[in-house]
Amino acid sequence: MHTIRRRRLAFAALTMAAAICCTTIRSSAQRPTLAPYIPTPQDVVDRMLTLAEVSSKDIVYDLGCGDGRVVITAAKKYGARGVGIDIDKDRIDESRRNAREAGVSSLVRFERGDILEANVSEATVVTLYLVSSANLKLRPILTKQLPAGARIVSHTFGMGDWQPDKVDKFADGRGDQRVLYLWRADGKVRP
Ligand SMILES: C[S@@+](CC[C@H](N)C(=O)[O-])C[C@H]1O[C@@H](n2cnc3c(N)ncnc32)[C@H](O)[C@@H]1O
Repeated sequence: MHTIRRRRLAFAALTMAAAICCTTIRSSAQRPTLAPYIPTPQDVVDRMLTLAEVSSKDIVYDLGCGDGRVVITAAKKYGARGVGIDIDKDRIDESRRNAREAGVSSLVRFERGDILEANVSEATVVTLYLVSSANLKLRPILTKQLPAGARIVSHTFGMGDWQPDKVDKFADGRGDQRVLYLWRADGKVRP
């Protein structure tokens, strides 16, 4: 009887240890992919940067940067500095190659990482092309970290009940309808 109880306890302890171990492995190895890779067409990128009124004084962060086109364009067209962050290593390698080819490697950098853990406090412009649920997860992070006056531009997706300062609706070069949203950080944290 005593032995059976001991075996049961040992089994329960092993099961619990396995559960804890699996949880740790899952959370450290599988970073959350918040949106699939779909690049913003170049003419829409140009319009996003125009909406944000990017200049050479800006530091542009593209969260989920794909092939780096947003920050590379901001550097090439306006002389802005930029940071692109993506969870996918291939995208980061591609972004770095594209930056070299565009001759803007000294102005931009690309980091592999989870945007939900990013420090964006130096950004004056943040660009997004994710999905609504990801924007909502980012909202408290961005509104806490960004300096007042920083601009956030999102392609297609809003930020819940945070009303944008501007909305730009237009047909892109291929005739597809696009919507861009602009918010200005005002120092108020929005959970
Ligand atoms: C729709 S694409 C946008 C690419 C680029 N910003 C553009 O507009 O062309 C979304 C990107 O977000 C990246 N992504 C998804 N979840 C992420 C996460 N948790 N952290 C960092 N990047 C993520 C994807 O790998 C993908 O490259």
